[in-house]
Amino acid sequence: MPEPMQMEGALPQRTRLGHCEIRRVLGRGGGGISYLAYDAHLEREVVIKEHFPPMLCLRTPGAAEVQPVSPDGYERSLLSFCREARILAGLNHPGVVKVYDIFQACGTAYMVMEYVEGERLGDWLPPHAPEVQGVMLVLQRILEALGYLHAHEVLHRDIKPSNIIIREDAQPVLIDFGAAMLGTPPTTITLVGTPGYAAPEQFQQHGRVGPWSDLYALAHSMGKLLPGKVLRRYPRRFVCALKRAGVDDIDRRYACAADWVGALRNPQSNACRLLLLLVGAFLLGVVCVGALLQSPDAVVMPHADDEPAVVPVSLYTEAEKNTIRERMQKILRLQYREALERDAENYGYTGEGDRRAWIDAKVEEWVRQMQHQTQELMERQVVPAG
Ligand SMILES: Nc1ncnc2c1ncn2[C@@H]1O[C@H](COP(=O)(O)OP(=O)(O)O)[C@@H](O)[C@H]1O
Ligand SMILES: [Mg+2]
Repeated sequence: MPEPMQMEGALPQRTRLGHCEIRRVLGRGGGGISYLAYDAHLEREVVIKEHFPPMLCLRTPGAAEVQPVSPDGYERSLLSFCREARILAGLNHPGVVKVYDIFQACGTAYMVMEYVEGERLGDWLPPHAPEVQGVMLVLQRILEALGYLHAHEVLHRDIKPSNIIIREDAQPVLIDFGAAMLGTPPTTITLVGTPGYAAPEQFQQHGRVGPWSDLYALAHSMGKLLPGKVLRRYPRRFVCALKRAGVDDIDRRYACAADWVGALRNPQSNACRLLLLLVGAFLLGVVCVGALLQSPDAVVMPHADDEPAVVPVSLYTEAEKNTIRERMQKILRLQYREALERDAENYGYTGEGDRRAWIDAKVEEWVRQMQHQTQELMERQVVPAG
């Protein structure tokens, strides 16, 4: 492979463009050549992307000027290059490359961007694949950047491993907005994207292109870089989400980046919440029983929505007091019975008949005591609300 600086048509090292000086070629594609340059005004390295579509123009050796081969096609492509800069200029997110300037020179246009130091996803992921948590974090951040783009009605349309740079701090940055579009996607065929990554609808007449198309390309970018052997070490939810984001059928795919992030973060949120609720309710029950059995001054019972509530007895009528007393006794009786059932074996009552008789006797004795005690409690002004 030739050295980048010897690339055909590329501007040579030290070429001055405005207040920038070319240092080396970073890469080239269908839209142009990206150079690493030094900006003497900003006093930092920047990336300069030159509009140089190889199918539509050429540069004679030794000359800086670009010669269009197809003037109409070249003009259209120049306009779309400027549109790429305008789309980027309207965005501000750590996961999206920043554009500083756009200018014309050498018969073409140049976009000045921040230099994102790091590795392209294609180079970064294979050696980092075994780091499950790290990879999941990077994926989540890419999805956050895509979510940001989509919320601003921008579709990238060319998500692939060479268009995502991972910084050293694991922040991914989306670059190359040459195929991006702002606003509602056209319903006619536009044929943009890279085969092997781009979603099938990007190559179909009346294809329903949308945020889900970028998700498809991301799923295939990740999928191609993570071998099955390594994927087996990932949580099931990660693999399932990857598959779902990358299915051909749009209706079965995630509709937006947030849905994918949700599936990664909290796959069984409902089940977890239910479990926590049950544990909470159980602990509340334990506290209530403890209070009932140990402290005659603080009788609390679960309220309708599991909140313990205490109301002064003076607010109740005689009839309400009776109902409350009955309910209290019923609940206490049940709870005491349950406690006795657990204890019966410890007391040596293993036979069914013996056990039942012992429990019944204990409960009756306890209820007599409790009747007296609850009456006293009620007189002493603290009683639970129903
Ligand atoms: N802002 C940037 N920071 C660092 N590297 C970049 C930047 N922009 C482009 N590159 C490098 O140049 C390569 C080609 O640039 P890109 O914008 O993807 O254009 P294209 O793919 O159309 O040639 C990228 O894969 C990347 O390695
Ligand atoms: Mg690219």
